[in-house]
Amino acid sequence: MIYVTGDMHGEQEKLLAAERDTPLREGDTLIVCGDFGYIFRNDERERAFLDEVENRPYTLCFVDGNHENFPAIYAYPEEIWNGGRVHRIRKNIYHLMRGQVFQLEEKRVFTMGGAYSIDRHFRIEGVSWWPEERPCREEYDEATRNLLACGKKVDYILTHTMPLKTIRQGGWFPDPHDLELTSYLEWILYQVQYQHWYCGHFHADCDLPGKITLMWNEVMPME
Ligand SMILES: [Fe+2]
Repeated sequence: MIYVTGDMHGEQEKLLAAERDTPLREGDTLIVCGDFGYIFRNDERERAFLDEVENRPYTLCFVDGNHENFPAIYAYPEEIWNGGRVHRIRKNIYHLMRGQVFQLEEKRVFTMGGAYSIDRHFRIEGVSWWPEERPCREEYDEATRNLLACGKKVDYILTHTMPLKTIRQGGWFPDPHDLELTSYLEWILYQVQYQHWYCGHFHADCDLPGKITLMWNEVMPME
């Protein structure tokens, strides 16, 4: 079974609560839709927590959000895992890189993390903010190539932010600094066939038009 949830921001209690409330068994996967945050200060306490999670029977995956320490994540070894590129954080913890199509439990899962931090000006570059939060040209190109290679047909889409149109439909105001990514996601919305789309970033749990579910605190099976 594949479960999905929203922004964790490195809150250890939030993952422990998700584990308590969800029957995560061997072979199951829990995917966080960005702002994973358990690799942020990149200190001993965080590493000890990841070591603890490494003993769990399930697999923990995340697409990146905007509040991530990208250099620390990118320092982990890169591998191909279930058909897509990942950083292997522990033997059962993976960062699902941008623009990838994974084959998970017979389902095709497309991933595109990243977003602009609206609180960027309260943060310090290299300490609490990193410029890699927004995708670069190569990542968009790789995403498009991989979507074309599977005939623009996947089962699930996992992102941190959401299409521009959906932001407006949800009653939020699109940030002008994030138009490149949210417009790209809107292209996906129109061009790619999918069964369901899960995202995070907006810190609410709700269903949105276009078979899009915004995840925050809830943990639900992908369907
Ligand atoms: Fe967040």
